[in-house]
Amino acid sequence: MVIMQLQEILFSQGFGTRRICAGLIQQGFVAVAGATCTDSAMEFEAKDLHFTVQGVAWEYHEKAYLMLHKPAGYECSQKPSSYPSIYTLLPAAVRQRGGGAAAGVQAVGRLDQDTTGLLLLSDDGKFIHRMSSPRHHVPKVYEVTLKHAVDEKQIQKLLAGVVLDDDPKPVRAATCEKMGDLQLSLTLTEGKYHQVKRMIAAVGNRVEGLHRSRIGNLPLPDDLKPGAWRWLTTQDLASIAAAP
Ligand code: URA
Repeated sequence: MVIMQLQEILFSQGFGTRRICAGLIQQGFVAVAGATCTDSAMEFEAKDLHFTVQGVAWEYHEKAYLMLHKPAGYECSQKPSSYPSIYTLLPAAVRQRGGGAAAGVQAVGRLDQDTTGLLLLSDDGKFIHRMSSPRHHVPKVYEVTLKHAVDEKQIQKLLAGVVLDDDPKPVRAATCEKMGDLQLSLTLTEGKYHQVKRMIAAVGNRVEGLHRSRIGNLPLPDDLKPGAWRWLTTQDLASIAAAP
């Protein structure tokens, strides 16, 4: 059981300072289980609590785990330089969870501005660290569109390992499947900077389009449109950890 005052619940979920949260409640903007509650100190069991703030439905999450279908033309940075930030695609409450300066959700790793597909975000530092750690080798599947027709030699080189300019140790694709003359499906278990683009360049080809379709055993759902996000379910979290 996690018993919390309503204003604390709102505060923990990113609706502003404690004072702002108390104000929202006292002004009648918050309803719990369909009934408006104007007592900011009223206590509720927070776990699985459903509430509305100004008519928008929310569910209490102790920690935030979510997926975003990253569209092209967005940077995975809080302070983007040339394109809008992916964080602008999330509601303010999700961005501001927890209050302080370093609060809110963070992307688990980064995708390039022009890369699309599955991106995970969380405010659970341990989860972010575990997922980003090179020791964990969570497989990530990329659908790659190439400039030049792919040949068998290039596929064999990607599978055998190529040396990139920042590390003498070769990096290899865990799987590499030809899906068409200009299409590859590639699985990587590390997450080096621009890794797919650099590996493809190292075998003499060029990436024209890049889409991440899967992390671990979790696919990007067909019904999650570019720019849309949703909370991860317990099952989704288990799928990420599971081997494909
Ligand atoms: N590899 C890349 O080159 N870019 C990405 O965005 C992800 C993987």
